[in-house]
Amino acid sequence: MTMTIEKFINGIPKAELHVHIEGTFEPELMFKIAQRNNIKIKFKSVEELRKAYDFNNLQEFLDIYYDGTSVLIHEQDFYDMTWAYIEKLHSQNVIHAEIFFDPQTHTDRGIQFSTVITGIHKALINAEKEFGMSAKLIMCFLRHLDEEQAFQTLEHSLAYKDWIEAVGLDSSEVGHPPSKFQRVFKKAQDEGFLTVAHAGEEGPPEYVWEAIDLLNVARIDHGNRALEDDALVQLLAQKQIPLTVCPLSNLKLRVVDKLKNHPLKRMMNNNLLVTINSDDPAYFGGHLNENYIKLAKALYLTKGDIYLLAKNSFNASFLSDAEKLNYIKQVDDYQKQS
Ligand code: HPA
Ligand code: ZN
Repeated sequence: MTMTIEKFINGIPKAELHVHIEGTFEPELMFKIAQRNNIKIKFKSVEELRKAYDFNNLQEFLDIYYDGTSVLIHEQDFYDMTWAYIEKLHSQNVIHAEIFFDPQTHTDRGIQFSTVITGIHKALINAEKEFGMSAKLIMCFLRHLDEEQAFQTLEHSLAYKDWIEAVGLDSSEVGHPPSKFQRVFKKAQDEGFLTVAHAGEEGPPEYVWEAIDLLNVARIDHGNRALEDDALVQLLAQKQIPLTVCPLSNLKLRVVDKLKNHPLKRMMNNNLLVTINSDDPAYFGGHLNENYIKLAKALYLTKGDIYLLAKNSFNASFLSDAEKLNYIKQVDDYQKQS
């Protein structure tokens, strides 16, 4: 009973549902891969690169984040980036992950779709083998690019349908509403993909409505600004549409001014199905446990809150009902013995 909240968080079995694989790419590994691929990085050292991770908004982050991917050329590079993240998850008692990847960031640089997805997929297969961890892939369309490019990406993905659970929507939100991709998402659903979308991070509540009404999303990624609209909050609560919330991302990208003002607790009080996630852990100063711990301290979350958030992470996942029950039993067992 004397276990600290920090220790309780570190040990509790949990799932990560909102993480961009390109956002897990740590500077040390970036430099290592740059060297073996003979590619020059704009920054002189890991320290100098880390110093550049100071953002005023989403776009400032995205510019650096897309830049960082330019060293990824071979299947092995994508494997190594993914495997480093898997090892981190394992060390944090994360037992299931649903991971975004941005194929257009790579195909636009002349890298084959197959190279990207095969490298990532092989690491996920190994995660299952080595650690008994489960993982699913979500393919994101870059919303600052046009509909036609998204259609082409969807076309590329069809040969790899079995490896991809869902499609999503990320990148610069404002000015690129979900409605821009309504037809692409319809086609993706016809092909059997589930759908999610980033909405309400910087964009208005209307974008969250559009994601639900036009893209049929099973989850909203971020969703912070949904709280500005009472009818929307009511719908999210009533339908238990999950929000994948990313506290340290929100802080670093100035969606919130300080963690003490983070809306997570308000979301929970409104009976929303919320989960805590890391988004781009290499850029935002923490992986999943750090997101839980820093937010727990800022908002005075209790062990009961953490227990609920861990269960939410499985309930909001794309696992089958039987798998959810099995994972939630592990959360229950942990809670009982701690
Ligand atoms: N928002 C939009 N696009 C992204 C993000 C994000 O937080 N992270 C990586 N791509
Ligand atoms: Zn994100």
